[in-house]
Amino acid sequence: MTRRDNMMIYKTDAEVALMKEAAVLVSKTLTEVAKILKPGVTTMQIDKLCDEYVRDNKAIPSFLNYNGYPYSVCASVNEVVVHGFPNNVALKEGDIVSIDMGVILNGWHGDHAYTFILGEVSDAIMQLVRVTKESLYKGIEKAIVGNRLGDICYAIQEHTEKKYGYGVVRELVGHGLGRSLHEDPQVPNYGKRGNGPMLKENLVLAIEPMINLGTKDVVTESDGWTVRTKDHRTSVHFEHDVCVKKNKALILSDYSIIEAAEKANTNLNSKYY
Ligand code: MF3
Ligand code: CO
Repeated sequence: MTRRDNMMIYKTDAEVALMKEAAVLVSKTLTEVAKILKPGVTTMQIDKLCDEYVRDNKAIPSFLNYNGYPYSVCASVNEVVVHGFPNNVALKEGDIVSIDMGVILNGWHGDHAYTFILGEVSDAIMQLVRVTKESLYKGIEKAIVGNRLGDICYAIQEHTEKKYGYGVVRELVGHGLGRSLHEDPQVPNYGKRGNGPMLKENLVLAIEPMINLGTKDVVTESDGWTVRTKDHRTSVHFEHDVCVKKNKALILSDYSIIEAAEKANTNLNSKYY
């Protein structure tokens, strides 16, 4: 039976297994992106590829029409933090692009994101990408039974803002995930250790640091979606779907297949590993 307290929905093991299938379908979709990314490719082409791949795999792209969002992926380039609209502008050497994708498979949501680097970027941007990904795993380490939600939030903020002086976006947060794209609780990338609700087994969270090279402040464009940094400096976004467990969080999404494709694609830069 599904357990619920406050507004948090704890999944059964069988439900977690289904959610893993949804999360891995997103990972496989992002792996297809990693294979074809190169200067000249447009984010609209990526949107089409992802939409078709997901439908071919008996799932539905979940972002399309969600609160009126008009595309199947969010493609956020350089200073765009999240929710960038796919467009017909060719990506170029030196760009970084976060592809965020959601699917519904057998009624369950998968929702995760990965930031790719095209060719050479400055050491500062390389470090921002590395540290943002590291911070995601620092947060995940805290997603265990008996910890509090704030432990996850604090770990991410500590590794990015405190240690490197990066801007941690306040307006956008991670979230619970399940039969809905957004469930309780909200998962900010900042917070206090020991604060917030206790984490219980089989709570599934989408943890998604959005970290800026400069100011934490962001601006939403007049399209109502595109979120940019206020100072136009670069922002990075990584997202994993994670299930709270006793000693070690279970990561439902799978970066290993994306990273393998990234490393095999000479147009992509993965030197930061
Ligand atoms: N990963 C994002 C989120 O959790 C993407 C949502 S885009 C939207 O909110 F179009 F679906 F809103
Ligand atoms: Co999300």
